[in-house]
Amino acid sequence: MSSAEHTTKVYPPPASIVQGAHVSGMEAYRKLCAEAEADYEGYWARLAREFVVWKKPFTKVLNASDAPFYKWFEDGTLNVSYNCLDRNVEEGRGDKVAIIFEADDGQVTRVTYRELLEKTCRMANGLRELGVKKGDRVVIYMPMSVEGVVAMQACARIGATHSVVFGGFSAQSLRDRIEDAGAVMVITADEQMRGGKQLPLKAIVDEAIGLGGCDSVRHVVVYRRTGGQIAWTSRDRWLHELVDKQPSTCEPEWVEAEHPLFLLYTSGSTGKPKGVQHSSGGYLLHATLTTKWTFDLKPDDVFWCTADIGWVTGHTYITYGPLANGATEIVFEGVPTYPDAGRFWKMIQQHKATIFYTAPTAIRSLIKAAEANPSTHPRHYDLGSLRILGSVGEPINPAAWEWYHEHVGGGRCPIVDTWWQTETGGHMITPLPGATPLVPGSCTLPFPGIMAAIVDETGQDVPNGHGGILVIKKPWPSMIRTIWGDPERFKKSYYPAELKGYYLAGDGASRDAERGYFTITGRIDDVLNVSGHRMGTMEIESALVSHTELVAEAAVVGRPDETTGEAIVAFVVLKRPRPTGEEAKQIANELRNWVAKEIGPIAKPKDIRFGDNLPKTRSGKIMRRLLRSIAKGEAITQDTSTLENPAILEQLAQTN
Ligand code: WTA
Repeated sequence: MSSAEHTTKVYPPPASIVQGAHVSGMEAYRKLCAEAEADYEGYWARLAREFVVWKKPFTKVLNASDAPFYKWFEDGTLNVSYNCLDRNVEEGRGDKVAIIFEADDGQVTRVTYRELLEKTCRMANGLRELGVKKGDRVVIYMPMSVEGVVAMQACARIGATHSVVFGGFSAQSLRDRIEDAGAVMVITADEQMRGGKQLPLKAIVDEAIGLGGCDSVRHVVVYRRTGGQIAWTSRDRWLHELVDKQPSTCEPEWVEAEHPLFLLYTSGSTGKPKGVQHSSGGYLLHATLTTKWTFDLKPDDVFWCTADIGWVTGHTYITYGPLANGATEIVFEGVPTYPDAGRFWKMIQQHKATIFYTAPTAIRSLIKAAEANPSTHPRHYDLGSLRILGSVGEPINPAAWEWYHEHVGGGRCPIVDTWWQTETGGHMITPLPGATPLVPGSCTLPFPGIMAAIVDETGQDVPNGHGGILVIKKPWPSMIRTIWGDPERFKKSYYPAELKGYYLAGDGASRDAERGYFTITGRIDDVLNVSGHRMGTMEIESALVSHTELVAEAAVVGRPDETTGEAIVAFVVLKRPRPTGEEAKQIANELRNWVAKEIGPIAKPKDIRFGDNLPKTRSGKIMRRLLRSIAKGEAITQDTSTLENPAILEQLAQTN
């Protein structure tokens, strides 16, 4: 054991949480793992019967005959919205608050399970009236709102496959997703409110459709959020006009377990975002199960996941998991820094949140904000209601972990550092709060039944204490089923031949020698994680070179950033002489805005460097490792003897 491990601080689960936890103590955790080990299919079948209401019970558990296109519970039928809504009303929770919605301006609306069911039925009937059928794809481009959740649930109710596009994506990105999905409808809002500002949504939908390739779209349904001025076309329908006249009941479409509940586009190593396809039965099982066990969710909890429904975290831990458990949850429209950086703490205090799930980037930026303006520090708020804290989206550095634990959790709340991905549907490696001793910076151990491991390039197990490639050795119910329209890419990306049928996560990781705890070391492919948002370097490069007037060539790399985890650095060769000084600043700004327009503001490079050329090998390959060093400001230690023009290294080291 190394001395570093010796001094690692370990936080055992507090007795008050262990007592009565759904998974109470490490022995209970190990027992579940052993059950899955001994009879893998039996374990998942048991949970699928306990956690999901089936219309027609399944008799088959896992079908691996066409691996890696696995099928789970395939002869069972169900409806996801029935499981999230009707079930709760039928079991006597009709008057329980399902959603506490807090608007950007602080206005609060409460919606009970009965009301949420009625809203969903009305919208589902409205979608049916407009001809949306089982299997049709519906793109949802909505603000954080009750209506956004209802739109997703309404699609689930009629068996339409939703594809939510984050409201920060540009018209071009939206267009690409609409076209790839072949969506028959887009559900949007006139505008969204963020940090006191009105931002357009409908206008961006119009622009996206105007770019062409969206002929599949028959209707655009518009939720009136702000009442702002928008253009109107013959394909547009107001949401309120569509749903007000609809009956408040709607027979669910009972779908097969494998029916695609949703597509969610995410970045990979190549230029084009991929439509990750999820199932209904297996996905719902893991969403329900992980919400309950990972957060030790109890009937009286007030659950708050701060993610946007445009990301997978918002799908699993806002729209599906908490509702399937009959929980009360907070849905927040705004941003953590408006009207000031105390907003999260104020909301926890006001709504007596008991479970709080957010991203390390948010924590780090709120730490900074509290340093700059001490009145926003959590100590000024009563956060005594909190029981459990969670972290997601990127590695949480121990310093941020400690601050979160002490200042938000009052030293008494376990932090569940949940590792998972869009593709995995739900938590894969995570502590369970009533069982797992915590080590800051480690996501600890696999969720019971998830066969996570670390291997080398040939699929051989790597002993604890060493780093390697993170894989999942066995299929699991909520796994990605395919990439929409591109099964070959699915196979190549996630099941490369050399890994012996293991799922390749794309992350590097290590396990410590003492406990076997996992620590994620970051992506091993060309995917960046900026503020917990996934972006492909090639996607950003394509956006840059699509500025054909200015850009000849571009290479994008990530560099560690104190607040955002990683920051985007772009190296650009222009079609004109290399600019310097003011001109360089100006062009860098123009390119930043260009990328925002092509992809979205989240993809804006933080740093743009100009060179007469890029460092390349003799065969013409860009030396990315060199660029990564330059981006970090490191001295170049790599062999540069093959470089044609070593002087460019100096050029590229200069910031603008
Ligand atoms: C990273 C978000 C370290 C990881 C749910 C993964 C994490 C990618 C963690 C998926 C964590 C997510 N610790 N890294 N707890 N959670 N990641 O698809 O690199 O947006 O592959 O899903 O985020 O990002 P995605």
